[in-house]
Amino acid sequence: MRDPFAPIRAAANIAVDDAHKQPIALVGAGEIVDVAHLPAYAAHGLSIAGIFDIDTNKAHRVAERHGVGRVYRSLDELAADAQAPVVDIAVFPWAQFDIARELLDAGKHLLCQKPLSYDFAQAKQLVDYAAHRNRLLAVNQQLRFAESIAATRAMVSEGWIGEPYEMSWDFHVFTPWQNWAWVADLPQLDLQQFTIHPLDTVRCVLGEPRWVYGNQASAPGQTEKGETRTVSVLEFDGETRAFLRSCHKNTTGDPRAEFRIDGTRGSIKGTIGLMYDYPRGRADTLAVNSAVLPTDGWLPYPVLTRWIPDAFIGPMASLLEAIATGGQPATNGSDNLATLRLVHALYESGREHKVVRI
Ligand SMILES: NC(=O)c1ccc[n+]([C@@H]2O[C@H](COP(=O)([O-])OP(=O)(O)OC[C@H]3O[C@@H](n4cnc5c(N)ncnc54)[C@H](O)[C@@H]3O)[C@@H](O)[C@H]2O)c1
Repeated sequence: MRDPFAPIRAAANIAVDDAHKQPIALVGAGEIVDVAHLPAYAAHGLSIAGIFDIDTNKAHRVAERHGVGRVYRSLDELAADAQAPVVDIAVFPWAQFDIARELLDAGKHLLCQKPLSYDFAQAKQLVDYAAHRNRLLAVNQQLRFAESIAATRAMVSEGWIGEPYEMSWDFHVFTPWQNWAWVADLPQLDLQQFTIHPLDTVRCVLGEPRWVYGNQASAPGQTEKGETRTVSVLEFDGETRAFLRSCHKNTTGDPRAEFRIDGTRGSIKGTIGLMYDYPRGRADTLAVNSAVLPTDGWLPYPVLTRWIPDAFIGPMASLLEAIATGGQPATNGSDNLATLRLVHALYESGREHKVVRI
C-alpha cells in the first residue's frame, strides 16, 4: 500500500551530509547544551573540538558526561583554536554580543541563541558585523525543525490543505521559570524566551505579517519579573491571520500545547509534547484532514522524534551545509531579525495598547 506520508517524512528528516561536517566548539555548558545541543550533535556524529564556560567546573562536568576531550580555559583560547571553525554560543543572552564579536573577529562561523539580543538595534549590528566579516551567523530557532512542525510545513507546501489562511497556537502550561533564576529575573519573559519560537514557525508557514496586536500580563502573585501570559494577533495580507496564546501558570495539572492550521482544502492540528513535562515531555502528535489527498477525516501522522533533543540538529545542519555550499542557513541572521522584529512590535503594541505596523 502506498504510504502518503513518505514524502512528508523525507522532507522533515534532517541529515548532516558527511562532507559538510566540521568540528564545533561550544561557549556555555548550561542546561540546554547538556540536554539538547550535545546529544543532538552526538546522534549525527558531529565532532566537538572543545567547550568553554565561565564556570570551569561545570564545563568539566558536561565535557566528561558527553566525552568532550577539551575544556578551554578562556574564550581567547577557544578563539585561537584553528581546529574549531564553527562555534555554538549558548550563554545568557546579554553576554552573547561581546562573545560573538570576538569570535567573528577570530574568523569563526556562529550559531547563536535566541533571542539574538534583547536590543533589536544590537541584534542588527551583530548580523551586519557577521556580513562585514564575511562569516555566517545562524540563530538556534529550532522549533521550525521539530518533526511535527517540519511535517506540517511539508504538507502545506505539498498543497494538502490548499491555501492556508489561519494558524493558531495555544499553550496553557506550567513552566517553573524559577529553575532558571536569570530568566525569572528578566523584565521581558514569555515573548523573548518562549513565544519567539512559535512566532518563528508562523513566519515559516504563512510568511510575513503586516500588522500585529499584542497583550502581555503577569499572573497574580507571581515571582517572575516579566510577563507569563501573552496574547498575540498577526494580520497578513488578505484574510490570513495567526493567533498565539501562551500562559505559563497552569496549576491544575491539565496542560495544553496545541497548534492548528486551517486552509481552503483542509486542516492540520498537533501538540508539542515537550511542553507537557519539560524537558522530558512526550511525543508530539500530528493529524491532517485533507480534501486533496483525500483523508476521509483526520489522519494521524506518527511523529517519531522530539523537539528536545532531535530538532536541535536542524539549525546546525543548515549552518554546516551553508558553510560547505556557499549558501545561507535557514535561520540566518537576517531571517531571524524578522522574527525578533515581531517580538519587539508585540511589546510595543502591548505597552501602548495599539496595533503596530511591521
Ligand atoms: N529551545 C531553545 O532555543 C532554548 C531553550 C533553552 C535555553 N535557550 C537559550 O540558551 C541559552 C542558555 O540557556 P540555558 O538554559 O542553558 O541556561 P543555563 O543558565 O543553564 O546556562 C547558561 C550557561 O552560560 C554560562 N555563561 C554565562 N555567561 C558566560 C560567558 N560570558 N562565557 C561563558 N559562559 C557563560 C553560565 O556559566 C552557564 O553555565 C540562553 O540564551 C537561552 O535563551 C534556548
